[in-house]
Amino acid sequence: MCGIVGYVGDQSALGVVIEGLRRLEYRGYDSAGVAMLADGKLATAKKAGKLANLEALLEESPMAPATTGIGHTRWATHGAPNDRNAHPHVDCTGTVAVIHNGIIENFAHLRAELESRGHELVSDTDTEAVAHLLEEATRGGEVGLADAMRAVCHRLEGAFTLVATHADFPDAVVGARRNSPLVVGRGQGENFLASDVAAFIAHTRDAVELGQDQVVEVRRDGVTVTDFDGNPGEVREYHVDWDLSAAEKGGYDFFMLKEIDEQPQAVADTMLGRLDDDNRLVLDEMRLSDDDLREIDKIIVIACGTSFHAGLVAKYAIEHWTRIPCEVELASEFRYRDPVLTRSTLIVAISQSGETMDTLMALRHAREQKAKVLAICNTNGSTMPRESDAVLYTHAGPEVAVASTKGYLTQIVACYLVGLYLAQVRGTKYGDEIAKVVADLRAMPAKMQRVLDDLEPVRELARDLAGATSVLFLGRHVGYPTALEGALKLKELAYMHAEGFAAGELKHGPIALIEEGVPVITAVPSPRGRSILHDKMVSNLQEVRARGARTIVIAEDGDTTVEPYADVVIRIPQSPTLLQPLLSTIPLQVFACEMAKARGHDVDQPRNLAKSVTVE
Ligand code: G6P
Repeated sequence: MCGIVGYVGDQSALGVVIEGLRRLEYRGYDSAGVAMLADGKLATAKKAGKLANLEALLEESPMAPATTGIGHTRWATHGAPNDRNAHPHVDCTGTVAVIHNGIIENFAHLRAELESRGHELVSDTDTEAVAHLLEEATRGGEVGLADAMRAVCHRLEGAFTLVATHADFPDAVVGARRNSPLVVGRGQGENFLASDVAAFIAHTRDAVELGQDQVVEVRRDGVTVTDFDGNPGEVREYHVDWDLSAAEKGGYDFFMLKEIDEQPQAVADTMLGRLDDDNRLVLDEMRLSDDDLREIDKIIVIACGTSFHAGLVAKYAIEHWTRIPCEVELASEFRYRDPVLTRSTLIVAISQSGETMDTLMALRHAREQKAKVLAICNTNGSTMPRESDAVLYTHAGPEVAVASTKGYLTQIVACYLVGLYLAQVRGTKYGDEIAKVVADLRAMPAKMQRVLDDLEPVRELARDLAGATSVLFLGRHVGYPTALEGALKLKELAYMHAEGFAAGELKHGPIALIEEGVPVITAVPSPRGRSILHDKMVSNLQEVRARGARTIVIAEDGDTTVEPYADVVIRIPQSPTLLQPLLSTIPLQVFACEMAKARGHDVDQPRNLAKSVTVE
């Protein structure tokens, strides 16, 4: 959702904060704003729309030089995305400024209470109440900002990261977190606060992960962390293992294009150190004992958006390799249906960010019911790994584009690793069978690279179809989640009607959508191995073609049987069916990206979306 930056040091706070916001803009871009402390006075500037609008405003009306400041980029929840509702919000006296990510659920009550005491609130946001509560709690500067923040946090319900500055305490920025991310960056004579390390990676790679319900005071010379009662807080210090270049576009027009190209490396990195020379799985880091894993009698994968599609792929692989029943559930639905969970249920929570609130709440529900939770996450220091029994990190590096690409493919790989590891521990597959799959997996990055090297026809096709009103995607088996992901990408990026269907289900209704010229995109399974899948898919192709569809077929090298039924064939290297999504997804990502470009959209920052949604 929103992105937050705070800075105290010797550099220009405005420069550091704006640069940080630029790297956090993926979290929301409805408005941006800053508050700076200069000469004992608080000054704010804020503007609806993307960060560029704020920068233009600052150029017109520059702020006084400051070395302490905070900044915010917003994904609106309470109140329209206009200037007035942009953060920071200030109190009646203009001495406290606060920024916020999350939702303060009891804000209406707090607001009424504040108004009854004479406060004037000018925005429609839940956040503004906090500025006024801090005004009261600091009592005109008698009480320190950190103490005041602790007192105010006791009054708040919901999820929040808050960061505040106060004109009477110009050398500090104070933050608080509950259910929403906040990390500290430790520098030399300067310190940072941010929603994500990307905001300060240009200055330091030393980070401090805050715990739940903690307040942090960041000064030039140090950082103090406590719980909401003022007791010293436990934190985890870590070194970020990627650098600034990973968080920059590196010559690409969009982060998404860069991230698509990084996929072979990201997949290779996700396998690194997890396979031994005999192609056996080594997942020591998982923190679940082999005995725990042998006891599991059911697996439920929970996730949202693109991560949910990774879960759908996982189901095919996990059930096939382990014979453990595996369900996949949208995290936002999970806890409301009262799922049957026991100590021998394994929950696999998949989340690139590790912060998505729907998934986090589902995960917590599962833990309350004593199920074991394994998180598959990409972001070190995020909430889900901390709250899970075990974690398997995808090593995709920072993913900035809102639409997930390398995050997705590495999640699929992590799911394969979990499935194979379970098969190894439980003996449901022979060692040589596992070694064969592992060898196939090891060959995937090179095959992915071959797909990437030959995508010009896909780009051309996208430009050609840019005027289409609707695109349908069909798939069977793991091709079904691939179809769903292809359609989601197109919706997200090109704002087009797009739907993914299980190919066999088509005849039960959706086939009515087929009319002359409707583009239908399919990934056809390998004709080798379980060829029945392939043959059924080819039949489905014939059905839509006979009704006038324009068929675009992703097929293995050498599969000539699809040619009579395909208007366009996109070739991918041969691979086992279960691993095919690692190849067949790539043309769909590029197709959506190119379509968005052709339709004049911002590929990295699609309208209305945010990369990590930290509200339910
Ligand atoms: C948001 C993003 C999606 C993403 C989903 C889950 O809705 O726009 O692209 O797939 O969140 O994110 P996660 O970080 O949990 O994988």
